[in-house]
Amino acid sequence: MKHMTLPELQFLDNAQTLGADDILVVGLAKNNDTIEVVSTGLDSDLVTALTTQAGLIQADGAPDSTWRIPSPEGCAASSVVLTGLGSNDLTIDVLRQAAGSAALALNGPGRLVFAIEAKDEEHTQAIAEGALLGCHRVTKLGLSPAKTPPTIAVVGSLALPRITQAQRGAEAVWQVRDLVTMPPNMLNPSSFVEHVSALAKGTEVSIEVLEEKELEKQGYGGITAVGKGSQNPPRLMVLRYQPGSPTRHVALVGKGITFDSGGLSLKAPNAMVGMKYDMTGAAVMAAATLAAAALGSPAAITAYLCLAENMPSGSASRPNDVITILGGKTVEILNTDAEGRLVMADGLQAASATKPDLIIDAATLTGAARIALGERYAGLMGTDDAVAQIVASAAHVGELVWPMPLPRELRTLLKSDIADIANAKPGEVLGGMLLGGLFLKDFVGEGIPWAHLDIAGPAANSQGAWGYTPKGATGAITRTVLDVLMSRP
Ligand code: BES
Ligand code: MN
Ligand code: ZN
Repeated sequence: MKHMTLPELQFLDNAQTLGADDILVVGLAKNNDTIEVVSTGLDSDLVTALTTQAGLIQADGAPDSTWRIPSPEGCAASSVVLTGLGSNDLTIDVLRQAAGSAALALNGPGRLVFAIEAKDEEHTQAIAEGALLGCHRVTKLGLSPAKTPPTIAVVGSLALPRITQAQRGAEAVWQVRDLVTMPPNMLNPSSFVEHVSALAKGTEVSIEVLEEKELEKQGYGGITAVGKGSQNPPRLMVLRYQPGSPTRHVALVGKGITFDSGGLSLKAPNAMVGMKYDMTGAAVMAAATLAAAALGSPAAITAYLCLAENMPSGSASRPNDVITILGGKTVEILNTDAEGRLVMADGLQAASATKPDLIIDAATLTGAARIALGERYAGLMGTDDAVAQIVASAAHVGELVWPMPLPRELRTLLKSDIADIANAKPGEVLGGMLLGGLFLKDFVGEGIPWAHLDIAGPAANSQGAWGYTPKGATGAITRTVLDVLMSRP
């Protein structure tokens, strides 16, 4: 599997010297029934011509829409793309998404020149980010090469740290999309380790991998129980980044089920389709760690990637099995399809043992999260301080999270006659996302700030592309985690 590399990113003083290899991108806003071209670095005759053209094709400037028109007289670009900015304020988020829509709509081979007016560096950075996020393409397995625009140019200027930030953030999202897109016959726990090791090569991130025998020996009962039904044995991959004098230690835990068949509690055929996405949490945490290291995060980072394939077989875990999670708590498995919380329990215990200042976990944990919040918002649970940090970072990078409660009274639903906790209550449908969060809470060390992100919804986009988000694997939440890792609270 070839990981896609980002296009070159250039900054231009203006857009007056374009050529036939260029496609010009400008914004189109609508204010009180009049459309307005939002551009920078173009001469005023061209802006007038573009406004007239937009009117002729009745382009209305709606967000998530683009209009491609031939270059007007006097513009040497091969064509022009108008990208909708809507009728509200031109916020950072609007610009990031609009630049992304344009990049998503266009395929190479030429250079994409973004000449959208930005009022300051933050806005210019958002345009660059959206453009980079939007031009990722899935490499089709077969003959057709991916058509990624080779060069992105943005009219404006940006200080180097901001350029690097935009590039590393987008690169991390690309890595997640590439890993998650891989079919489950090509990505299993051990090949996941190989792919992430290749990405980590030459970085300051060190790697430790526990294989199945070691996992069993050291007491990782959750990962072992989930992985033992598969021919492809489980792994725990630990990534570590240690800066000179860290401001704090952040532990990350990611769910890495490379395929979730449900195990003996087998999923229905249609529900199984898409379960290659079940390793998104691990991919998000790996990519965020690598990007944070590349950007020189002030925090020490340890990422626990809990990797297993959940399969039914003669060696698979059964409903009613009782297992022991790392650290000694016992779990009665009542549904083998609630496997994510079992591997995450081990990861959270391993993280807690090091007494970090913050634990963040990300998991495609429950179908209930998608039902409650749809495909755009991640469900967010945990301790108040940790939740507040995620909310702030998500807002900062333009990602969508929604705080959810962990109602104490629901914990009784997970009571087991024979173990400390059951992994599910058969037949119970109420509050499934919250129950998943409550289960995890039992495995977080006392007093450690902790945030749980149920990303079952936003991990994949089953609908049409919107903004910079393509259909399929999205890489959502990666930049939020990265932002937390980069911040100094
Ligand atoms: N990986 C699934 C959750 C999921 C479902 C993610 C649909 C994305 C789309 C998880 O392992 C699972 O199967 N959860 C069960 C939990 C239940 C058995 C308590 C679920 O949501 O049905
Ligand atoms: Mn499952
Ligand atoms: Zn799962």
